[in-house]
Amino acid sequence: MLAVAILAAGKGTRMKSKLPKVLHLLGSKSLVEKAIDSCNLVQPDRQLVIIGYEGKQIENALNYLPQVEFVEQTEQLGTGHAIQQLIPHLDDFSGDLLVLNGDVPLLRPETVQKMVTIHQENNNSATLLTANLPNPQGYGRVFCDENNLVTAIIEDRDCNATQKQNKRINAGVYCFNWQKLREVLPKLSTNNDQQEYYLTEVFDYLDQVMALDVDDYSEINGINDRRQLSAAYEILQQRIKDAWMMAGVTIIDPHSVTIDESVELGIDVIIEPQTHLRGNTTIASGCKIGPNCLIENSQLGENINVLYSVIIDSKISSNSKIGPYAHLRGGAQLGENCRVGNFVEIKKSIIGTKTNIAHLSYIGDATLGNQVNVGAGTITANYDGVKKHPTIIGHRTKTGSNSVFVAPVTIGEDVTVAAGSVITHDVPNNSLAIAREKQRIIENWKMKSK
Ligand code: UD1
Ligand code: CA
Repeated sequence: MLAVAILAAGKGTRMKSKLPKVLHLLGSKSLVEKAIDSCNLVQPDRQLVIIGYEGKQIENALNYLPQVEFVEQTEQLGTGHAIQQLIPHLDDFSGDLLVLNGDVPLLRPETVQKMVTIHQENNNSATLLTANLPNPQGYGRVFCDENNLVTAIIEDRDCNATQKQNKRINAGVYCFNWQKLREVLPKLSTNNDQQEYYLTEVFDYLDQVMALDVDDYSEINGINDRRQLSAAYEILQQRIKDAWMMAGVTIIDPHSVTIDESVELGIDVIIEPQTHLRGNTTIASGCKIGPNCLIENSQLGENINVLYSVIIDSKISSNSKIGPYAHLRGGAQLGENCRVGNFVEIKKSIIGTKTNIAHLSYIGDATLGNQVNVGAGTITANYDGVKKHPTIIGHRTKTGSNSVFVAPVTIGEDVTVAAGSVITHDVPNNSLAIAREKQRIIENWKMKSK
């Protein structure tokens, strides 16, 4: 059996925030969610998150994960004190306990798995991750014998000058034999510079504690302030973009592009500079996105071009062209081979195939058929100040420039709407709708002089 406990009770004073530290976002996920994700390969039987400062907020943020149990540490008296709170919750538990810091978000699932395997193969009382850092300042230092067995961990502030020379640091990631840990937890003292209960004191009482060096020490970066948060974001972005490039995606100027972990890309997608792909977005092969696009929670079919546009909560079928300067949102759905161009906004509308909305339009709460040509400046007036109303436009209909559809209204198939019309009544198939003042000419007319 395996349980994981994630330390998340601290306030994170250096973040200077109303939000508890572990709820700060690294892209699409919070720090604590990233810590939970790092257990993906070992699949613990129990997941406990130790909360304290603004604990309710953390509970709310994680309540979509039914397997997570919350353990309250009402006063934050140190990492050892936090783990002591687990005792009543893991009373009948036998097996190993993985301990992760909620503020260490870049740990790879493979690393956690390796640590658990080594722990179990060697029958250790505890196994912990270590790294040799060029600048170990602030971290606890790990002292080992020639067999890589830990003899002591001393916090930076408790180290003397010689001990400070040791660059091998404690990452704050451990695997314990729970029975053995539980026996020694009551022995912890506050006999240190901070007068806190340090979890690391248990290593004074446990035998066979093994240290495992991580190969890539960016994995164990702890987040204490917003500079470290942004540095971690950069590392995460680099990982994500490298993986997509290795999988067949071209990213032109990766520094100016951000991609959330949750995004899926097909092969031969080309991402141009200043493009940001977020949330639950999928982009099929052959699409060219950017420069300057924001695409969030949207699904794009194959071979779509998007230029200087914003697409949120929308779905676009293959071979369509979007932009420059288009805005699709709120459940816009576009068929194949459509063209949506300059300064067009589409909201909560279903658009058929080969339909063009090329310039200066607002299409909201509308259903458009196939091969519709929406003239420049066409507007669906969907809102009467109280409610939203639908507009329906049939196949092959052409709307003239500057036409307004006052919803609710239904326009048939093969209709032509004259430019400048304000359409307030339904229009039958195969007809011309014209709703504007007839042009008058007054000949030989001159402005009266005053
Ligand atoms: C800890 C380790 C140090 C290690 C470092 C790695 C101890 C004594 N020291 O130091 O050896 O190098 O992590 O990052 O463990 N927390 C609680 N309750 C508490 C105190 C802390 O839940 O009472 C949580 C914090 O919210 C945080 C984590 O535990 O997520 C680590 O606490 P922090 O105070 O940051 O420990 P460090 O000083 O970084
Ligand atoms: Ca820390």
